[in-house]
Amino acid sequence: MENLAAKAAFSRKLLEWYRASRRDLPWRRTRDPYHIWVSEIMLQQTRVETVIPYYERFMKRFPTPEALAAAPEEEVLKLWEGLGYYSRARNLHSAVREVCERYGGVVPDTREAIRSLKGVGDYTAGAILSIAYGKPEPAVDGNVMRVLSRCFLIADDIAKAGTRARMEELVRAMMPPDAAGDFTQALMELGATVCTPRAPRCGGCPVAEECAAHRQGIETELPVKSKAKPPRPEYRAAAVVRDRAGRILVRRRPDSGLLAGMWEIPHIWLDEEQREMADDGKMAFMRDALANEGIPARPLGRFGREEHVFSHIHWHMDVFEFAADGDFARGAPLPDRYRALEGQDGMDGLTFPNIFLRILRNVFGRHPPA
Ligand code: ADE
Repeated sequence: MENLAAKAAFSRKLLEWYRASRRDLPWRRTRDPYHIWVSEIMLQQTRVETVIPYYERFMKRFPTPEALAAAPEEEVLKLWEGLGYYSRARNLHSAVREVCERYGGVVPDTREAIRSLKGVGDYTAGAILSIAYGKPEPAVDGNVMRVLSRCFLIADDIAKAGTRARMEELVRAMMPPDAAGDFTQALMELGATVCTPRAPRCGGCPVAEECAAHRQGIETELPVKSKAKPPRPEYRAAAVVRDRAGRILVRRRPDSGLLAGMWEIPHIWLDEEQREMADDGKMAFMRDALANEGIPARPLGRFGREEHVFSHIHWHMDVFEFAADGDFARGAPLPDRYRALEGQDGMDGLTFPNIFLRILRNVFGRHPPA
């Protein structure tokens, strides 16, 4: 399958198929490089169906690079709330500001310039250059590597950088110069809808005849991928602290690090010994931590348990309910970075990571505001 005629057949059939059966997605109705950029950043690690409403809201609010550059970070994060991987939004925001300052609001069209923008890697650079600018630049992500490893029987470990480089060369060699954008999206589309990880639909595949793995019946054994380290578990105890009027205590995270600047329910890290304790022990630690912050409160019992997997960390969070001794609206002011939510509307304008959104939905669901 390494020969020229076979590669040409692969390109031709793949493109024909894409043009006849591509999904109508909002970012496929434009070639505006800024719009393509936003869509590709949102689509990293996130499913198409999840992205669509976020993309539409975002483009409505920030239709141009200038509109995004002028917005405060809180507003950008709020529109991203629920999509996860928030550094994507922060990097995009700061890179778009750079495009406005350095390039007059025009997304650059060379790999070198575009690659130097915050959060733009080889894949995103290739996607913008090919889809928006029609340049024959490869965009190779995990989906594309799956397709190529099967069709061309490449058994190299796709977790290795060298394998991606090899696949980029292969794409360069096959890319029709007059249809770079469609070719990029055709590869993605095949990976997303036909050449899926576990049960590929080879019966409906336009390049099944060209596929070396299919001919040998080994399509599900490819690609080869060495296992990444599993995320490190972290155990935490969180407190839903309610005052007499039903206000809920929240706080803002530090300005740098994981989930920087986002809002959360107060919580503490539990060491190995603490995480083995019964609820009473964990609640006592949480109570002491709150008291240290100047928030005396009485433990009421367990509220629930939540988990969240980040790229490198797996949070296991025990959630407890507390009754504040005082009234958050009177008496001593809350410490810096803390705030009391008056009902669910109080969350407007504050961005919460998903794990805390789930907790707060339960809080307000079980105790709806009067
Ligand atoms: N995944 C990544 N980029 C995509 C795109 N442009 N269309 C559909 N799925 C994608």
